[in-house]
Amino acid sequence: MPSLSKLTAAAVLVVSSLALGACELGPKQSQQTGYRGTGIVQIVDPGNVVAPGEVPPPPYELPAPGGQTAGQVYQNVKVLANVSQEEFDYTMAAITQWIVPANLPAEEAGCNYCHNAENLADDSKYTKVVARRMIQMTQNINQNYSDHVKQTGVTCYTCHRGNAVPEYVWTDPKPSDGRLMGNKRGQNTPSNAVAYASLPLDTYAKYMRGNSGPARVISKTIHPTTANRQSVKDAEGNYAIMMHLSQSLGVNCTYCHNSRSFARWEQSSPQRALAWYGLQMVKNTNEEYIHPLANVFPANRLGPQGDPYKTNCATCHQMQRKPLGGAQMAKDYPALRTVSAAAATAAVPAAAPATGAAAPAAAAAAGN
Ligand code: HEC
Ligand code: HEC
Ligand code: HEC
Ligand code: HEC
Repeated sequence: MPSLSKLTAAAVLVVSSLALGACELGPKQSQQTGYRGTGIVQIVDPGNVVAPGEVPPPPYELPAPGGQTAGQVYQNVKVLANVSQEEFDYTMAAITQWIVPANLPAEEAGCNYCHNAENLADDSKYTKVVARRMIQMTQNINQNYSDHVKQTGVTCYTCHRGNAVPEYVWTDPKPSDGRLMGNKRGQNTPSNAVAYASLPLDTYAKYMRGNSGPARVISKTIHPTTANRQSVKDAEGNYAIMMHLSQSLGVNCTYCHNSRSFARWEQSSPQRALAWYGLQMVKNTNEEYIHPLANVFPANRLGPQGDPYKTNCATCHQMQRKPLGGAQMAKDYPALRTVSAAAATAAVPAAAPATGAAAPAAAAAAGN
């Protein structure tokens, strides 16, 4: 007769093989996403699909173009000056719906979240200064990154979803404190940023700032050369950011790659090229628009290293292949679709730190 300890051991083996085997029970759906012959298929467990989220309706019917512009009627309009007054008011109403949380005290509720109720032209609330730059940022995404966002485009709601600070954001991580346990050499601490693996924690800072290089590790020559030498840590960083891309879209690696050769573009799915444009868009958004606002945000809106919360793929996608299930939202807000002519540099806050000084120059170079 087997002893009790042997039985227990057998039971532990059975349970752990079920738990660690990563098998998910129940029917799956499969869908071809790559070119024919590349064998790129997504296998989806319908029980794990995240709901796309509701899109709030426009505040009222979009006013017909024409009439006086906001710049003519109001005193301190620096970005949306050429929009008609009626459309300006409509856009303000929508922004309020997208950004301002419910149940705030009266002095912060609704329009007062950004405005001094005595004088709407006043810029004393930091939220208004931030919002003005965010309007330019949204216009820049829609106009200059249409290779990624297509005609679907984005609005403030794509990121904010009714929150003052979007739900999925990142900042530079705390540096290693030198202790024996956890965060050794900037890794080995469980964090959502690296799918709770022991991968390097500075993944976003490494790949999602303006100065970051491409996420590439695979050698193109047999022997490493000085121009083509990657460390194990580079490979870990690359893997960590790829985990983020996959998780943010609710897909696996083969949504973009052919696993027989991760590097080869001609064997990848078309979505990988789209994702590449997405990476460039995220870098530009963080570097030119959000990071230079570091001096404008109060301390409670900054991370442990004093940098503002920034964007990654999850900020918009929220585990969907297309944000909000592909809802065509930007079409109802023409003021946010193209970069305003008058204002490309005017609204950069005077207090922008050194890294931000490049923003106006780059905007001018881009022809804005
Ligand atoms: C999330 C921040 C935010 C909220 C909320 C907000 N606004 Fe604004 N508002 C701005 C910004 C930014 C500007 C300046 C736009 C520009 O420079 O192009 C502005 C400018 C204005 C102006 C022009 C004032 C002037 O004389 O220069 C009016 C009027 C206005 N808003 C009305 C409203 C109303 C009404 C509401 C509420 C329904 C509202 N706003 C809610 C950010 C906000
Ligand atoms: C949404 C699309 C997408 C998903 C999902 C994705 N990748 Fe990538 N991958 C890319 C893009 C785009 C690049 C090129 C990045 C660049 O140029 O900065 C890349 C680059 C790579 C590279 C480097 C190739 C080279 O040239 O050195 C490897 C390796 C890689 N991915 C592995 C993975 C793994 C493993 C997964 C799953 C955990 C994954 N990827 C998921 C889009 C994706
Ligand atoms: C690409 C994503 C993205 C889009 C689009 C976006 N924002 Fe933001 N916004 C952010 C992030 C990230 C923060 C948080 C920065 C921080 O707190 O350090 C933020 C913060 C803000 C804040 C400060 C809120 C507070 O309480 O501190 C305001 C106001 C704001 N955004 C307005 C807007 C407006 C208005 C629009 C549309 C015209 C917009 N945003 C579009 C990403 C976005
Ligand atoms: C500012 C918001 C925003 C951010 C940030 C963003 N995306 Fe997107 N993405 C979109 C929108 C909007 C679409 C839908 C375009 C369309 O309708 O075809 C999209 C579509 C895609 C698609 C095509 C999906 C399909 O099935 O056709 C891929 C792949 C993708 N994004 C990857 C990424 C990756 C990877 C990142 C991070 C590096 C990223 N996106 C960051 C807004 C965003």
